[in-house]
Amino acid sequence: VDSRLARYRNLMQRVRQFYIQQLKQSPAKDKAVNYAKNRGISGKIAKYFELGFAPPSSNLLSEFEQNDQNIADLKTMGLLCDDQYRSGQYYDFFKDRLMFPIHNAKGNIIAFGGRTFDNNTKVKYLNSPETPIFSKSKELYGLYHARKYSRSIDYILVVEGYMDVIALHQVGISQVVATLGTATTIEHLNILSRVTNTIIFCFDGDNAGKKAAWRALNVTLPVIKTGITVKFLFLPDGEDPDSLVKKESSKVFVTRIENAQPLSQFLFSHIKAELDFSTIEGKTLFLEKVSTLLRKINYKIYQQQLLEGLAGEVNQSIEQIKYILERQDTPVQ
Ligand code: CTP
Ligand code: MN
Ligand code: MN
Ligand code: MN
Ligand code: MN
Repeated sequence: VDSRLARYRNLMQRVRQFYIQQLKQSPAKDKAVNYAKNRGISGKIAKYFELGFAPPSSNLLSEFEQNDQNIADLKTMGLLCDDQYRSGQYYDFFKDRLMFPIHNAKGNIIAFGGRTFDNNTKVKYLNSPETPIFSKSKELYGLYHARKYSRSIDYILVVEGYMDVIALHQVGISQVVATLGTATTIEHLNILSRVTNTIIFCFDGDNAGKKAAWRALNVTLPVIKTGITVKFLFLPDGEDPDSLVKKESSKVFVTRIENAQPLSQFLFSHIKAELDFSTIEGKTLFLEKVSTLLRKINYKIYQQQLLEGLAGEVNQSIEQIKYILERQDTPVQ
């Protein structure tokens, strides 16, 4: 192993331990403990996800031998920042936050997320920056925990946040990962399609969540392949998985998972909702918009099925649909 990577791994482990210890021992710990309790995080689940506390006065450097190597490594890991005004002085990146260690698929700590205790703070969640061991677009929070007890998983739920992953685990739903405040990427999808056959996107029941779902559909189309099913679970307005499982039983949530919408249904209904389907002009737009999306699909059998679905939607024969599409600039087949 690259000695540099081994050093980072060791350092991140020590930092995780420091934050965990602060949650138990810091003079300011009550704030963090009460916050976690108020959000319904059990001691058991906090331990399982290795949650910690960065105290207001956090000074990571005091935990390490203060040599150039450690200072450089803590800076590279995004944990230590240069003091702009006093050269040779540093301050902690994470202060006064509930800390969520982020594991890679093997279980090594590669980054942290920190939540403020004060909802009025501008930045609710602070995440480690991109580092040599952390690239947001390639990591999924919770993947390590989702695979801990079973390597092949019948479905995976993709949610927005740390708290959603943790809340679902707490009610026994452990096949869940979160993108880390970024949009779903092709890299995410490639990783997910290697560990499961069914990917279910479950974003927040707000405008941002709806937009994220549509974006996810667009990213997904070119990578759908044999054996992979993609679905969408839409939550009631104003809810996210964390808030919802605190209101309703996990059983009801599992039923929601079972009833998630197939991608095809979301695709048609989303486009229909943007236009007046009762007019010829509306149907024309519908045909155009759907066909533009279907062109992105490389999985031919699926594309064919969706074309048939499209034909059904506009009440025309599949031959007519293909004829229309072939006359557009880029042919479908
Ligand atoms: N996020 C982030 N930076 C932000 C806001 C959000 O990185 N400023 C990421 C975090 O990973 C967060 C996720 O996006 O967990 C979901 O964001 P959001 O839905 O806004 O979080 P809330 O549900 O509002 O957070 P909480 O339940 O803790 O109040
Ligand atoms: Mn929010
Ligand atoms: Mn959200
Ligand atoms: Mn939330
Ligand atoms: Mn949310």
